[in-house]
Amino acid sequence: MVISPSQTSSGHNPDNNSEKIRKLFQTFNETYPDYKSTSIIDELRAKEYSQLDKSGQVYLDYTGGGIYSDYQLEEHTKLLRGGIYGNPHSNNPSSLASTELCEHARHFVLEYFNASPDEYAVIFTNNASGALKIIGEAYPFGEKSRYLLTFDNHNAVNGIREYARSKGANITYVPVLAPDLRIDEEQLIHHLSRPDPNGNNLFVFPAQSNFSGVQHSLEWIARAQSYGWDVILDAAAYVPTNLMDFQRYRPDFAPLSFYKMFGYPTGVGCLIAKKTALKKLRRPWFSGGAIEMASVQGDKHYLGEGVRAFEDGTINYLTLPAVEIGLKHLQKIGIGLIHSRVTCLTGWLLSNLTSLYHKNDAPVVEIYGPRDMADRGGAIALNFLDPGSVIFNFHLIEEEASKFNISLRTGCFCNPGAGEIAFGLSKKDMVDCFGYEERASFERCILAVKGKTAGAVRVSLGLVTNFNDAYRFLQFAQTFVDKTVI
Ligand SMILES: Cc1ncc(COP(=O)(O)O)c(C=O)c1O
Repeated sequence: MVISPSQTSSGHNPDNNSEKIRKLFQTFNETYPDYKSTSIIDELRAKEYSQLDKSGQVYLDYTGGGIYSDYQLEEHTKLLRGGIYGNPHSNNPSSLASTELCEHARHFVLEYFNASPDEYAVIFTNNASGALKIIGEAYPFGEKSRYLLTFDNHNAVNGIREYARSKGANITYVPVLAPDLRIDEEQLIHHLSRPDPNGNNLFVFPAQSNFSGVQHSLEWIARAQSYGWDVILDAAAYVPTNLMDFQRYRPDFAPLSFYKMFGYPTGVGCLIAKKTALKKLRRPWFSGGAIEMASVQGDKHYLGEGVRAFEDGTINYLTLPAVEIGLKHLQKIGIGLIHSRVTCLTGWLLSNLTSLYHKNDAPVVEIYGPRDMADRGGAIALNFLDPGSVIFNFHLIEEEASKFNISLRTGCFCNPGAGEIAFGLSKKDMVDCFGYEERASFERCILAVKGKTAGAVRVSLGLVTNFNDAYRFLQFAQTFVDKTVI
């Protein structure tokens, strides 16, 4: 890849020396030789994702959502233009045409993840949160049940605790340990070895943290199952840049969102579930589409067979074919290649960010999570520090980054548990702040009363990130050298 000066110019930074950038890129290639083998992605970016470079945008929020290619849009439009597709709840020609496309997409999801159709089923949902909600509301929690989860989890996983609580289940959080924010293994083993023998036991952890990028060991799945736990593997942040093979790792449930993998379409996710695990669930309601029959006067209903029982109303039948197009697109590029590229760029960015110092030798950034690439993905959570180690407010960082045309994410990324440990917030801190009447005062409480931060900045790399994107973020970070919080 050749970087042109115009590609690297932000319009805000005078350091636009193309020779210097070329040298940096050369050194980068020497340090990360695998990057060269991913050049097909540069070609793809130029051809299929040209809006990125045309707009001069530096997109660094892939954990928030992926970017889509022209190819995906064109293929989907072509398909829709080529047929008549009606509501799949009938047996007429337009309905059958929709059913065929949706079932094809459903099978293809299993094929993509190497999941046996004898063992696994795919339930289409609106997103990963929707998939988690299905489990939460239908899992047979009871007073003799346990719900075990890591501090490092998305709020949709934390939300399941409310279902567990309402049924009297025991809820236990296993901490992650600063500074790397990896699971406290001793604690986890302690709890895994103590399922309630008289009830149902559910354990959940993310394959990749959407906060720190940590990749938790997938070996926990089989280990937990061997003690009798049902396991949810939250795969949402992992699958966009990693291969998930359901022949190798066999969670009972795995939620994910497709837009995080390939940008388009939004509004579709799925729950990949073991058929045996689905049999354990008890849906608390029924709707059209999910039933075999229901009666008003008979006051009874029969749920549909298999996945039908879990898909409410009309599935997103015009959009589901675009899921298959997206998965094939990823397959064609190769998830291994995407993984390799993201690993090189994240490694470079981490190493350069942690080498930034103020004149007084104080670091410019604090990274929350691992500083090297062992068992981690392409999301980096950080805060900017001034020479006195005072944290720059993350809202200000987002504003400043926007001036550089950089899209990043700030806050706690819907993962409060990892944040509480990263920012050194204690149980007392959190309980005190919930004591305030006004909700809006929460962030102020953490800042003003506790003198701590309630959030961070996250940059996340993905499918078509290139060296220029990583470099532009580094340039942005360099503008904080010797800058003071006012
Ligand atoms: C690990 C993880 N789980 C679940 C979710 C929820 O995804 P969605 O908002 O698409 O429902 C996210 C979203 O960022 C995530 O990163």
